[in-house]
Amino acid sequence: MNKEFARTLVTCALPYANGPVHIGHLAGVYVPADIYVRYLRMRGREVLYVCGSDEHGVPITIKARQQGCTPQDIVDRYHAIIDESFKGFGINFDIYGRTSSKVHEKNASEFFRKLYDEGKFVTRESEQYYDPEAGTFLADRYIVGTCPKCGAEGAYGDQCEKCGSTLSPEELINPKSKLSGAEPIKKKTTHWYLPLQDYEQWLREWILEGHKEWRPNVYGQVKSWLDGGLQPRAVTRDLEWGVPVPVEGAEGKVLYVWFDAPIGYISNTQELLPDSWEKWWKSPDTKLVHFIGKDNIVFHCIVFPSMLKAYGDGYVLPENVPANEFLNLEGQKISTSRGWAVWAHEYLRDFPGKADVLRYVLTANAPETKDNDFSWKDFQTRNNSELVAIFGNFVNRAVVLTHKYFGGRVPEAGELQDVDREALGELPALRASLEANIEGYHFREALKDAMSIARVGNKYISDCEPWKVAKEDMGRCATILNVSLQICASLAVAFAPFTPFACEKLSAMLRISPVWDDLARTDVMPAGHEIGPAELLFAKVEDDAIEAQMARLNAIRAEQEAAAAAEAAKVVAPQKEEVSFDSFEAMDIRTATVLEAERVPKTDKLLKLTIDTGIDKRVIVSGIAEYYAPEQMVGKQICILANLAPRTIRGIESKGMILMARQGDGKMRFITPAEALANGAQIG
Ligand code: MF3
Ligand code: ZN
Repeated sequence: MNKEFARTLVTCALPYANGPVHIGHLAGVYVPADIYVRYLRMRGREVLYVCGSDEHGVPITIKARQQGCTPQDIVDRYHAIIDESFKGFGINFDIYGRTSSKVHEKNASEFFRKLYDEGKFVTRESEQYYDPEAGTFLADRYIVGTCPKCGAEGAYGDQCEKCGSTLSPEELINPKSKLSGAEPIKKKTTHWYLPLQDYEQWLREWILEGHKEWRPNVYGQVKSWLDGGLQPRAVTRDLEWGVPVPVEGAEGKVLYVWFDAPIGYISNTQELLPDSWEKWWKSPDTKLVHFIGKDNIVFHCIVFPSMLKAYGDGYVLPENVPANEFLNLEGQKISTSRGWAVWAHEYLRDFPGKADVLRYVLTANAPETKDNDFSWKDFQTRNNSELVAIFGNFVNRAVVLTHKYFGGRVPEAGELQDVDREALGELPALRASLEANIEGYHFREALKDAMSIARVGNKYISDCEPWKVAKEDMGRCATILNVSLQICASLAVAFAPFTPFACEKLSAMLRISPVWDDLARTDVMPAGHEIGPAELLFAKVEDDAIEAQMARLNAIRAEQEAAAAAEAAKVVAPQKEEVSFDSFEAMDIRTATVLEAERVPKTDKLLKLTIDTGIDKRVIVSGIAEYYAPEQMVGKQICILANLAPRTIRGIESKGMILMARQGDGKMRFITPAEALANGAQIG
């Protein structure tokens, strides 16, 4: 599989323009892609870096409806926000296009049309839900009802967000249209399908035989799809928003968003390079790499390749699809609808000048092989004890001391000692490892290699103590600083794919424009070369900044918990088995008043209550201490079951029971008459 390619085409999953991007997107797709592209560019490779907004799909139309605007308004708004965020993180695509563009509409339309003309689709009639009041077919997301699995209200036709089950609209109990509230009816409709099963053998050979080097999560998902047997997949939908199906008799139908969106990669390339786009898409010399999240694997490894295969015409297939797993936030799944996310644009606002820090942390913690967690505490620690304390600190010491002892000019190195040779000698292997890791899509490991170079430098300068040596041997001090500055120059290269802003600053400070091959060289900083004034590469992240972020998340968590509790409280226990009137009559239920109350020692739950029952004064031990303090009970009129057989609880004889009402969430309250009555009044 080590074919030599002339150029690399890197695509990033087109984010849906129905909301801003968050750290999960950045960690899963855009930061790794950006590292890869920056690295290839530094190595002088020819690269095209393509992305754009995915502006079709049902969620966008739902959002538009909720906000009383058009889908175009929604995508215009989020396209701009997302585009801005990417730039803020230094993610500069060659083109960030849009699937609502004219170029794309034409391209996607022609793509469909060619497959249609060549008989590559099959049609199928099916029954789908239709809203008779709104006069339109309903996408699964437009149908809500009661979840058949957990009983929650408001489950969608494709999924219950409460219990996470995947559903089909037919399963919903009491289905209602989200548009009109009407009960949907079944109506016949015809759609075009791509018969994926026809491509199964070819997919097996291409991926299962030919790409065993793909990440295990990607390869495994593909294998299980193929082993499960492929089915024809609908490529059209009954919707208003999307690319119209360009054939007669398809009024009111659009291309399914997952049919048009990946074609968007091609359209966006055409938009940027109207005359030379084919060189990128139709030359076997192009290495195509799709960066995506794990929920996109089937579309990029099975559906889109089958579309391209069906189309023919020499389209390139991906050479690799390094999909990531998911990133969680503070131990909880990121959820756009619940607001459980760190939004890219808000991070840039809250942490100005710290885009690199998030790039660094998301790479160090990248969910490359399994789901991973982002926590603000870890963010702070990685910044303060890695970027600041190792990388930044080392560079700062080297630069400051060069100014202090040598007027800001690189001092000449004398004869190297073992410690110098050892430090410098570590660089070539780290460079080789870093390169192999990036080329193999192991970005976490690659970042560790870069950090190892910083560690080498930091340890070297700490061990050599040039600030002490300067007092007796300026020549030796010169050598130490010369070596340190060479390592600084290597850092400006090694970290450039990961923390580009800091590296630009570092190069400016060192007054160099390093190229990739300067990494691990020992003569990038010639003696006499003047460097600029010292500037800090990274600043500490203080506790208050982290606390502010945690406060926001804690507020969301509290809201969620309150909502969940309110739901739980509503759960009503089913009715008990029938009892006879006589059984009921046998119970002696009365009013009584609490005279004294005290905690039963060494228990959390029990109160010892002395009560006036009208008949007598007696003691009842009751498990209500969780709900009431003793002083809250004294003087209260309550209801009791008076003739319950006495029981001895913790050595106290309890005669009777306090009547309590228990809510679904377990909360309990005693029962009191609507107005004060004489004690001993009979209830029944
Ligand atoms: N919008 C999709 C998502 O966020 C990704 C589309 S990728 C493309 O999951 F290939 F279809 F463009
Ligand atoms: Zn459910």
